[in-house]
Amino acid sequence: DTAPLIDPFARAISYLRVSVTDRCDFRCTYCMTEHMTFLPKAELLTLEELDRLSSAFIRLGVKKLRITGGEPLVRKGILTYFQAMSRHLETGALTELTLTTNGSQLARFAPDLAACGVRRVNVSLDTLDPDKFARITRWGRLPQVLHGIEAAQAAGLRVKINAVALKGVNDDELFPMVDWCAREGHDLTFIEVMPMGDMGEADRLDQYWSLRDLRASLATRFTLTDLVERTGGPARYVRLEETGQKIGFITPLTHNFCESCNRVRLTCTGELYMCLGQEDMADLRAPLRASPDDAVLDQSIRAAIARKPKGHDFDYSRRRVEGQVSRHMSHTGG
Ligand code: GTP
Ligand code: 5AD
Ligand code: SF4
Repeated sequence: DTAPLIDPFARAISYLRVSVTDRCDFRCTYCMTEHMTFLPKAELLTLEELDRLSSAFIRLGVKKLRITGGEPLVRKGILTYFQAMSRHLETGALTELTLTTNGSQLARFAPDLAACGVRRVNVSLDTLDPDKFARITRWGRLPQVLHGIEAAQAAGLRVKINAVALKGVNDDELFPMVDWCAREGHDLTFIEVMPMGDMGEADRLDQYWSLRDLRASLATRFTLTDLVERTGGPARYVRLEETGQKIGFITPLTHNFCESCNRVRLTCTGELYMCLGQEDMADLRAPLRASPDDAVLDQSIRAAIARKPKGHDFDYSRRRVEGQVSRHMSHTGG
């Protein structure tokens, strides 16, 4: 069966995010609690199982693979998996192999990632202030991340900075971040904070900075032109006429983009989440382990896609958090 993966809302699924570990060397306050219990390593899919499962999705029409975590580069042996996936770039089955990282290990990995056919990386970075960085991540060191970003550039990778917009945290750094990205030649995307995990609802609402407001601030200094082009991700882009920079906005709260959703998420234990903002998931580990027959696996994947919901229910508009999911972002890698 070679029919493409189409969900109940006629959306073609061409993008798979694979979380290769739930661990991370940081504990960003909006993403994790300070004391997280991580999965026993025995629960994880092996690198061979990740390969077989990812390859099944690619056979069924996934064109873009994004590796996430936790922090993907702390998974032991992760380059073996990247090397395995690079064969799908060579055959043309896959058009993009990429990752979202906190940057802490990039200095070490950038050249090898580039050699595996990775062309760009998304680096999560919410502030350029070292003290604030240490507070947000609970103990991360900013210079280490900046060094990783430089190494990525030196290896020929394009860098996109992802910044979660947080009122009272980084709202004073809008222009410094924009200027820094212009100087360094990085793309920049802002993200509205989503209600995932068990951070207090009050904090979540206090820190929520809508990208409508952020955009208005940006417009006090720059002329913004909306761009129609999309990269296959949820971001919508504007160009700053004064600098030529492209700035992305990911707006699950102020502008729901679910109707053009093209993605599903695989966790490091083989659970498939059909939507970031819903609790429903399908266990693919059981069929993976039950039989070496890929037809069985393909059937399970198709059955899961047939359950993909219309979208998330995140909403703060009634001044309270609605549509919250209890799972942490680190479980599915954003
Ligand atoms: P490119 O467009 O390829 O650069 O990537 P992307 O935006 O698909 O991936 P990235 O990892 O940069 O995503 C950034 C963040 O946007 C994620 O970590 C999530 O917080 C959010 N995001 C990505 N995809 C979705 C989605 O399908 N739904 C929602 N609600 N948020 C998403
Ligand atoms: N809301 C929005 N983005 C989040 N991220 C982590 N937690 C949240 C949240 N609650 C972002 C990270 C990273 C990506 C993987 O998801 O900053 O860029
Ligand atoms: Fe897709 Fe769900 Fe994200 Fe909406 S919230 S874009 S349906 S994954």
